[in-house]
Amino acid sequence: MQVRFPRIDYSRVRPDWAPNREFACDRNASSTIPTYIEPYLIKIMNRAKEALPESAIELRQAVETFNLQEGQHTRQHSAFNRRIREFYPEILPLELKLKADLERFAEARSLRFNLAYCEGFESLGPPAAKLWFEHSDALLEGADYEAVAMWKWHMAEEFEHREVCYRTFKALYAKGLLGRIGFGWLYRVYGFLFVFFHLGAYTKAVRDRMLASDRSRMTPEELAQSRHNLQAVSRLALRRLLPALLPVLSPFYDPANKRPPRGMDAYLARFEKAGDMGRDTPAPAAG
Ligand SMILES: [Fe+2]
Ligand SMILES: [Fe+2]
Repeated sequence: MQVRFPRIDYSRVRPDWAPNREFACDRNASSTIPTYIEPYLIKIMNRAKEALPESAIELRQAVETFNLQEGQHTRQHSAFNRRIREFYPEILPLELKLKADLERFAEARSLRFNLAYCEGFESLGPPAAKLWFEHSDALLEGADYEAVAMWKWHMAEEFEHREVCYRTFKALYAKGLLGRIGFGWLYRVYGFLFVFFHLGAYTKAVRDRMLASDRSRMTPEELAQSRHNLQAVSRLALRRLLPALLPVLSPFYDPANKRPPRGMDAYLARFEKAGDMGRDTPAPAAG
Protein backbone atom coordinates (compact mmCIF):
# COMPACT_ATOMS: atom_id res chain seq x y z
CA MET A 1 0.00 0.00 0.00
CA GLN A 2 1.45 3.33 -1.00
CA VAL A 3 0.47 6.93 -1.75
CA ARG A 4 0.39 7.96 -5.41
CA PHE A 5 0.13 11.43 -6.87
CA PRO A 6 -1.70 11.42 -10.22
CA ARG A 7 -0.92 14.26 -12.59
CA ILE A 8 -4.19 14.84 -14.45
CA ASP A 9 -5.28 18.13 -16.00
CA TYR A 10 -9.01 18.60 -15.38
CA SER A 11 -9.26 22.07 -16.92
CA ARG A 12 -11.06 20.83 -20.05
CA VAL A 13 -13.32 18.23 -18.41
CA ARG A 14 -16.90 18.23 -19.65
CA PRO A 15 -19.86 16.43 -17.98
CA ASP A 16 -20.49 14.33 -21.10
CA TRP A 17 -17.08 12.66 -21.04
CA ALA A 18 -18.47 9.25 -22.11
CA PRO A 19 -20.49 8.44 -25.25
CA ASN A 20 -23.28 7.27 -22.92
CA ARG A 21 -23.90 10.68 -21.39
CA GLU A 22 -26.15 9.24 -18.68
CA PHE A 23 -23.36 6.89 -17.55
CA ALA A 24 -21.06 9.92 -17.23
CA CYS A 25 -23.82 11.77 -15.38
CA ASP A 26 -24.25 8.91 -12.92
CA ARG A 27 -20.51 8.82 -12.20
CA ASN A 28 -20.36 12.62 -12.00
CA ALA A 29 -22.99 12.47 -9.26
CA SER A 30 -20.93 9.83 -7.40
CA SER A 31 -17.79 11.89 -7.88
CA THR A 32 -19.15 14.62 -5.63
CA ILE A 33 -19.09 12.20 -2.66
CA PRO A 34 -15.30 11.96 -2.12
CA THR A 35 -15.00 15.72 -1.74
CA TYR A 36 -16.94 15.45 1.52
CA ILE A 37 -16.65 11.88 2.67
CA GLU A 38 -12.93 11.38 2.39
CA PRO A 39 -12.02 14.26 4.75
CA TYR A 40 -14.61 12.73 7.10
CA LEU A 41 -12.93 9.30 6.77
CA ILE A 42 -9.58 10.86 7.62
CA LYS A 43 -11.04 12.58 10.70
CA ILE A 44 -12.71 9.41 11.98
CA MET A 45 -9.75 7.13 11.21
CA ASN A 46 -7.44 9.49 13.08
CA ARG A 47 -9.74 9.17 16.11
CA ALA A 48 -9.86 5.41 15.68
CA LYS A 49 -6.06 5.24 15.44
CA GLU A 50 -5.82 6.95 18.83
CA ALA A 51 -8.24 4.38 20.26
CA LEU A 52 -6.17 1.43 18.99
CA PRO A 53 -3.69 -0.10 21.43
CA GLU A 54 -0.08 1.12 21.17
CA SER A 55 0.86 -2.44 20.25
CA ALA A 56 -1.15 -2.32 16.99
CA ILE A 57 1.85 -0.80 15.21
CA GLU A 58 1.21 -2.24 11.75
CA LEU A 59 -2.50 -1.31 11.76
CA ARG A 60 -1.74 2.23 12.98
CA GLN A 61 0.71 2.62 10.09
CA ALA A 62 -1.87 1.26 7.67
CA VAL A 63 -4.35 3.89 8.92
CA GLU A 64 -1.78 6.60 8.20
CA THR A 65 -1.23 5.40 4.62
CA PHE A 66 -5.00 4.98 4.19
CA ASN A 67 -5.48 8.60 5.24
CA LEU A 68 -2.80 9.82 2.82
CA GLN A 69 -4.45 7.93 -0.02
CA GLU A 70 -7.88 9.33 0.87
CA GLY A 71 -6.37 12.82 0.95
CA GLN A 72 -5.24 12.41 -2.66
CA HIS A 73 -8.66 11.06 -3.66
CA THR A 74 -10.33 14.17 -2.26
CA ARG A 75 -7.88 16.43 -4.07
CA GLN A 76 -8.36 14.80 -7.48
CA HIS A 77 -12.15 14.52 -7.25
CA SER A 78 -12.50 18.10 -6.00
CA ALA A 79 -10.55 19.39 -9.02
CA PHE A 80 -12.77 17.31 -11.32
CA ASN A 81 -15.94 18.34 -9.47
CA ARG A 82 -15.15 22.06 -9.74
CA ARG A 83 -15.49 21.71 -13.51
CA ILE A 84 -18.70 19.67 -13.23
CA ARG A 85 -20.25 22.21 -10.84
CA GLU A 86 -19.69 24.98 -13.40
CA PHE A 87 -22.26 23.17 -15.56
CA TYR A 88 -24.65 22.33 -12.68
CA PRO A 89 -24.49 25.01 -9.98
CA GLU A 90 -27.88 23.77 -8.74
CA ILE A 91 -26.28 20.69 -7.12
CA LEU A 92 -24.41 22.74 -4.52
CA PRO A 93 -27.23 22.77 -1.89
CA LEU A 94 -27.34 18.94 -2.05
CA GLU A 95 -23.58 18.77 -1.60
CA LEU A 96 -23.73 21.10 1.40
CA LYS A 97 -26.43 18.94 2.96
CA LEU A 98 -24.13 15.90 2.66
CA LYS A 99 -21.30 17.92 4.21
CA ALA A 100 -23.57 18.95 7.11
CA ASP A 101 -24.75 15.34 7.63
CA LEU A 102 -21.18 14.10 7.93
CA GLU A 103 -20.19 16.93 10.26
CA ARG A 104 -23.18 16.09 12.46
CA PHE A 105 -22.24 12.39 12.56
CA ALA A 106 -18.65 13.23 13.48
CA GLU A 107 -19.72 15.58 16.27
CA ALA A 108 -22.80 13.92 17.71
CA ARG A 109 -22.46 10.18 17.15
CA SER A 110 -20.16 7.60 18.78
CA LEU A 111 -16.84 6.47 17.38
CA ARG A 112 -18.41 3.05 16.88
CA PHE A 113 -21.16 4.50 14.69
CA ASN A 114 -18.73 6.62 12.70
CA LEU A 115 -16.31 3.75 12.22
CA ALA A 116 -19.16 1.47 11.10
CA TYR A 117 -20.13 4.21 8.63
CA CYS A 118 -16.53 4.37 7.36
CA GLU A 119 -16.36 0.60 7.00
CA GLY A 120 -19.77 0.56 5.30
CA PHE A 121 -18.45 3.06 2.79
CA GLU A 122 -15.18 1.18 2.31
CA SER A 123 -17.00 -2.08 1.63
CA LEU A 124 -18.41 -0.45 -1.52
CA GLY A 125 -14.82 -0.14 -2.82
CA PRO A 126 -13.93 -3.67 -4.00
CA PRO A 127 -17.24 -4.23 -5.88
CA ALA A 128 -16.87 -0.77 -7.44
CA ALA A 129 -13.28 -1.56 -8.48
CA LYS A 130 -14.44 -4.80 -10.08
CA LEU A 131 -17.16 -2.89 -11.91
CA TRP A 132 -14.66 -0.37 -13.33
CA PHE A 133 -12.01 -2.92 -14.31
CA GLU A 134 -14.08 -5.89 -15.44
CA HIS A 135 -17.57 -4.76 -16.45
CA SER A 136 -17.38 -1.22 -17.82
CA ASP A 137 -15.32 -1.58 -21.02
CA ALA A 138 -18.31 -1.11 -23.34
CA LEU A 139 -19.36 2.08 -21.57
CA LEU A 140 -15.78 3.37 -21.42
CA GLU A 141 -15.07 2.94 -25.12
CA GLY A 142 -14.45 6.40 -26.56
CA ALA A 143 -14.59 8.06 -23.12
CA ASP A 144 -12.27 10.94 -22.22
CA TYR A 145 -9.01 10.14 -20.48
CA GLU A 146 -9.33 12.37 -17.41
CA ALA A 147 -12.50 10.93 -15.87
CA VAL A 148 -11.51 7.34 -16.65
CA ALA A 149 -8.00 7.70 -15.19
CA MET A 150 -9.27 9.43 -12.05
CA TRP A 151 -11.92 6.80 -11.40
CA LYS A 152 -9.83 3.74 -12.17
CA TRP A 153 -6.87 4.95 -10.12
CA HIS A 154 -9.19 5.80 -7.23
CA MET A 155 -11.11 2.51 -7.30
CA ALA A 156 -7.84 0.55 -7.54
CA GLU A 157 -6.57 2.28 -4.39
CA GLU A 158 -9.91 1.63 -2.71
CA PHE A 159 -9.33 -2.04 -3.44
CA GLU A 160 -5.75 -1.77 -2.21
CA HIS A 161 -6.73 -0.32 1.19
CA ARG A 162 -9.99 -2.31 1.51
CA GLU A 163 -9.02 -3.96 4.80
CA VAL A 164 -7.99 -0.94 6.86
CA CYS A 165 -11.41 0.18 8.18
CA TYR A 166 -12.57 -3.42 8.50
CA ARG A 167 -9.57 -4.39 10.64
CA THR A 168 -9.88 -1.24 12.73
CA PHE A 169 -13.59 -1.82 13.34
CA LYS A 170 -12.86 -5.44 14.23
CA ALA A 171 -10.04 -4.50 16.61
CA LEU A 172 -12.20 -1.98 18.47
CA TYR A 173 -15.77 -3.30 18.28
CA ALA A 174 -15.88 -6.86 16.97
CA LYS A 175 -13.13 -8.71 18.82
CA GLY A 176 -12.93 -12.48 18.74
CA LEU A 177 -15.31 -14.93 17.14
CA LEU A 178 -18.29 -13.76 19.22
CA GLY A 179 -17.70 -10.17 18.22
CA ARG A 180 -17.26 -11.11 14.61
CA ILE A 181 -20.46 -13.10 14.27
CA GLY A 182 -22.48 -11.48 17.07
CA PHE A 183 -23.21 -7.86 17.89
CA GLY A 184 -20.08 -6.60 16.13
CA TRP A 185 -21.30 -8.19 12.90
CA LEU A 186 -24.83 -6.77 13.29
CA TYR A 187 -23.46 -3.30 13.94
CA ARG A 188 -21.12 -3.51 10.93
CA VAL A 189 -24.08 -4.53 8.73
CA TYR A 190 -26.12 -1.66 10.21
CA GLY A 191 -23.29 0.72 9.23
CA PHE A 192 -23.21 -0.68 5.72
CA LEU A 193 -26.99 -0.42 5.22
CA PHE A 194 -26.99 3.08 6.68
CA VAL A 195 -24.33 4.17 4.15
CA PHE A 196 -26.03 2.34 1.31
CA PHE A 197 -29.30 4.23 1.79
CA HIS A 198 -27.75 7.54 2.88
CA LEU A 199 -25.39 7.81 -0.10
CA GLY A 200 -27.79 6.07 -2.47
CA ALA A 201 -30.45 8.73 -1.84
CA TYR A 202 -27.85 11.50 -2.10
CA THR A 203 -26.39 10.23 -5.40
CA LYS A 204 -29.84 9.80 -6.92
CA ALA A 205 -30.85 13.33 -5.93
CA VAL A 206 -27.68 14.83 -7.49
CA ARG A 207 -28.03 12.72 -10.62
CA ASP A 208 -31.71 13.62 -11.02
CA ARG A 209 -30.91 17.31 -10.76
CA MET A 210 -28.16 17.02 -13.40
CA LEU A 211 -30.40 14.94 -15.66
CA ALA A 212 -33.26 17.43 -15.33
CA SER A 213 -30.92 20.18 -16.49
CA ASP A 214 -29.63 18.11 -19.45
CA ARG A 215 -33.09 16.94 -20.46
CA SER A 216 -34.59 20.44 -20.39
CA ARG A 217 -32.58 21.10 -23.56
CA MET A 218 -33.28 17.81 -25.37
CA THR A 219 -35.48 17.12 -28.36
CA PRO A 220 -38.04 14.25 -27.99
CA GLU A 221 -35.62 11.94 -29.87
CA GLU A 222 -32.73 12.87 -27.61
CA LEU A 223 -34.94 12.37 -24.57
CA ALA A 224 -35.84 8.85 -25.71
CA GLN A 225 -32.13 8.10 -26.23
CA SER A 226 -31.35 9.51 -22.78
CA ARG A 227 -33.90 7.17 -21.15
CA HIS A 228 -32.46 4.25 -23.09
CA ASN A 229 -28.92 5.17 -22.00
CA LEU A 230 -29.95 5.38 -18.37
CA GLN A 231 -31.45 1.89 -18.54
CA ALA A 232 -28.02 0.52 -19.50
CA VAL A 233 -26.54 2.18 -16.41
CA SER A 234 -29.27 0.77 -14.14
CA ARG A 235 -28.85 -2.70 -15.65
CA LEU A 236 -25.13 -2.64 -14.93
CA ALA A 237 -25.78 -1.74 -11.27
CA LEU A 238 -28.47 -4.38 -10.89
CA ARG A 239 -26.53 -7.19 -12.55
CA ARG A 240 -23.01 -6.44 -11.41
CA LEU A 241 -22.91 -4.12 -8.40
CA LEU A 242 -25.78 -5.22 -6.17
CA PRO A 243 -24.96 -8.97 -6.26
CA ALA A 244 -21.30 -8.16 -5.51
CA LEU A 245 -22.39 -6.27 -2.39
CA LEU A 246 -24.34 -9.18 -0.86
CA PRO A 247 -21.28 -10.85 0.78
CA VAL A 248 -20.83 -7.70 2.91
CA LEU A 249 -23.91 -8.83 4.87
CA SER A 250 -22.34 -12.15 5.87
CA PRO A 251 -20.82 -12.58 9.36
CA PHE A 252 -17.91 -14.27 7.59
CA TYR A 253 -17.24 -11.34 5.25
CA ASP A 254 -13.57 -10.39 5.12
CA PRO A 255 -12.34 -8.02 2.37
CA ALA A 256 -8.87 -9.57 2.63
CA ASN A 257 -10.17 -12.62 0.77
CA LYS A 258 -11.04 -10.72 -2.39
CA ARG A 259 -8.94 -11.16 -5.51
CA PRO A 260 -7.79 -8.01 -7.35
CA PRO A 261 -9.86 -7.15 -10.43
CA ARG A 262 -8.34 -8.12 -13.76
CA GLY A 263 -5.59 -5.73 -14.90
CA MET A 264 -5.83 -3.62 -11.77
CA ASP A 265 -2.32 -4.06 -10.39
CA ALA A 266 -0.66 -3.23 -13.72
CA TYR A 267 -2.89 -0.19 -14.17
CA LEU A 268 -2.15 1.08 -10.68
CA ALA A 269 1.60 0.81 -11.29
CA ARG A 270 1.19 3.40 -14.05
CA PHE A 271 0.35 6.00 -11.38
CA GLU A 272 3.63 5.54 -9.58
CA LYS A 273 6.64 7.80 -9.99
CA ALA A 274 7.47 8.45 -13.67
CA GLY A 275 4.38 6.47 -14.72
CA ASP A 276 2.23 7.49 -17.71
CA MET A 277 -0.79 8.23 -15.44
CA GLY A 278 -2.93 5.71 -17.33
CA ARG A 279 -2.67 7.52 -20.66
CA ASP A 280 -3.21 5.47 -23.80
CA THR A 281 -1.46 8.13 -25.86
CA PRO A 282 1.36 10.51 -24.86
CA ALA A 283 0.29 13.78 -23.25
CA PRO A 284 0.24 16.72 -25.72
CA ALA A 285 3.38 18.85 -25.55
CA ALA A 286 3.00 21.89 -23.28
CA GLY A 287 2.55 25.30 -24.97
FE1 LIG B 1 -11.01 7.09 -1.61
FE1 LIG C 1 -11.18 4.37 0.81
